[in-house]
Amino acid sequence: MPQHAYVIDKMISAKSIAARIEALSHEIEAEFAGTQKLVVVGLLRGSFIFIADLVRELDLPVEVDFVETSSYGNAMESSREVRILKDLRGDIEGRDVLVVEDIVDTGHTLFHVLHLLQSRRPHKLRTIALLDKPSRREADIRADWIGFEIPDEFVVGYGIDYAQRNRNLPYIGKVRFVQD
Ligand code: PRP
Repeated sequence: MPQHAYVIDKMISAKSIAARIEALSHEIEAEFAGTQKLVVVGLLRGSFIFIADLVRELDLPVEVDFVETSSYGNAMESSREVRILKDLRGDIEGRDVLVVEDIVDTGHTLFHVLHLLQSRRPHKLRTIALLDKPSRREADIRADWIGFEIPDEFVVGYGIDYAQRNRNLPYIGKVRFVQD
């Protein structure tokens, strides 16, 4: 896909993200109070920054694991086909599991991963998404905790890319295409 010229307008500041994660971490601690060891599962690659910040706010014993699903590639639209490129390292049967997603758009990724993990019979399976775009939903799914509900804008930063770029922005920005 050709790289069009674009600018990034700040949408959610790093400070707002940090404050929201701190608030959500208390709700998650309450939900998983008394758990032996929570398995926190990040969906690669987009969630790598969110999961890093989230686990550092959690005052719980945690293990960290990852699943990588098929990517949109460099396209902006979901292929609607979700393939597992990298599976969990650990066994989750009988365990408490929190799946961490950066953004729920059509919902196909989270829907597919949740069904897969549910089939492995965890004790408790919950989900958190930093961003939720409900207007784009196709699969019947909603994360248990949501950082921010956003309109149908193309966003980057804080782990989320455009053609593999801009993941390292410390904030969430909105992509605005401009004339070359
Ligand atoms: C993006 C994003 C979510 C998923 C959401 O991942 O990180 O995982 O799409 O879309 P959906 O709700 O429509 O399924 P992508 O496949 O682009 O891979 P990446 O995480 O490696 O960037």
